Amino acid sequence: MKDQMILETEAKKIVTPIYFGLELLKEPLFATFCQKLRFRLAIITDSNLKKHHGQPLLDRIRGVAEGVTLHTFKAGEESKNQRVKGYLEKTLFQAGHRRDSCLIALGGGVTIDLVGYISATFCRGIPYLSIPTSLLAMVDVSLGGKTGINLPFGKNLVGVIHFPLATFIDFSTLKSLPKDRMREGLVEIIKHSLIADNQLFELLSQNLEKWEEKNIPFIKQIIYASCQIKKGVVESDIWEEGRRRILNLGHTIGHAIEALEEYQMPHGEAIAIGIIVESFISYKLKKIDITTFEKIYQIFRWVGCQLAFSPKVTKKGLLDLMRYDKKTKRCTPRFVILNGIGRVESFRGAYCTQINPSLLENILDWMIETFETLPH
Ligand SMILES: NC(=O)c1ccc[n+]([C@@H]2O[C@H](COP(=O)([O-])OP(=O)(O)OC[C@H]3O[C@@H](n4cnc5c(N)ncnc54)[C@H](O)[C@@H]3O)[C@@H](O)[C@H]2O)c1
Repeated sequence: MKDQMILETEAKKIVTPIYFGLELLKEPLFATFCQKLRFRLAIITDSNLKKHHGQPLLDRIRGVAEGVTLHTFKAGEESKNQRVKGYLEKTLFQAGHRRDSCLIALGGGVTIDLVGYISATFCRGIPYLSIPTSLLAMVDVSLGGKTGINLPFGKNLVGVIHFPLATFIDFSTLKSLPKDRMREGLVEIIKHSLIADNQLFELLSQNLEKWEEKNIPFIKQIIYASCQIKKGVVESDIWEEGRRRILNLGHTIGHAIEALEEYQMPHGEAIAIGIIVESFISYKLKKIDITTFEKIYQIFRWVGCQLAFSPKVTKKGLLDLMRYDKKTKRCTPRFVILNGIGRVESFRGAYCTQINPSLLENILDWMIETFETLPH
């Protein structure tokens, strides 16, 4: 007998279709997909979406699949936790769901993260379908397979990468999405254009009024282009070991601002400031010129981001919190650096870099001078 054995399997290939369409959920494609699954289905959505999206979806699927159930939880980031996860698992079990069930995550990022994580662990893992209803969830959350919940110590600290069987992006769900929530998603779309697609950036910059008018063909085109970027980046680095870090542009600074504001500031606003400041770093490192930096700053003004934070955001606080960023190496923060609109520096495959501490301090001074306007 040897004192070691190695269990080895072929790596599981991930293939997950993403369907796009207006009124997609009413089309035969969706009903047929559900019918063919031959799983028991459980729709999970939040309290805001139950009436106008959850119940109609339940009524539609009931016609094609047996024993479908609908489960809800209180809307909001506060629900992305162990307690709500446990509560939903209990209700699923009581409703008769087991290993032959499939969950349907219908909602914004909170729902997709939470339900995706439940499906990864329920009965040791069952499949799920993703139906994002917020713009942020469409262009960002539902495309990377990341699922998880928050802990009292911070956001998304427990989770797993678990891809849905399929994602259905139905643009018509956006009709009920409030304007400020649309802006949250738009910030991520701009980020995608900055890291990978100069043309998308120009298209957005020159046609923002179409976005404001909720011009559906334009919005569809933009969402599709943005999803293509995220899909390409995720495909190139599923486990976030290198290139996927470019999706983190603006997040080293943005997450630290959010935490100092005790999560009372909209995520998109914090990330918008983060992207501007990290673009300023790129400018200071002579990777982009001043005109490019101004264009980036300007687009966030045009989309109506508030671009302001309270005096709770201090240089010391930022420096302390940035040490917890996931790109940090030996307690030193690292930043994604642009070398043009639509291009990032590779830094030999690390896709982020440390910067000189005194330069970082100067940039944080500039940032506080520029954006600190809100009262306590
Ligand atoms: N997994 C990932 O890769 C990833 C990436 C980015 C963000 N996230 C997570 O996503 C979450 C934020 O996503 P979010 O902004 O969608 O949050 P959310 O799910 O809380 O949705 C925001 C609000 O909009 C409402 N809403 C959603 N769709 C609607 C619609 N069509 N009509 C009317 N109201 C609607 C929701 O009920 C909620 O009140 C955070 O928890 C964040 O950590 C995850």
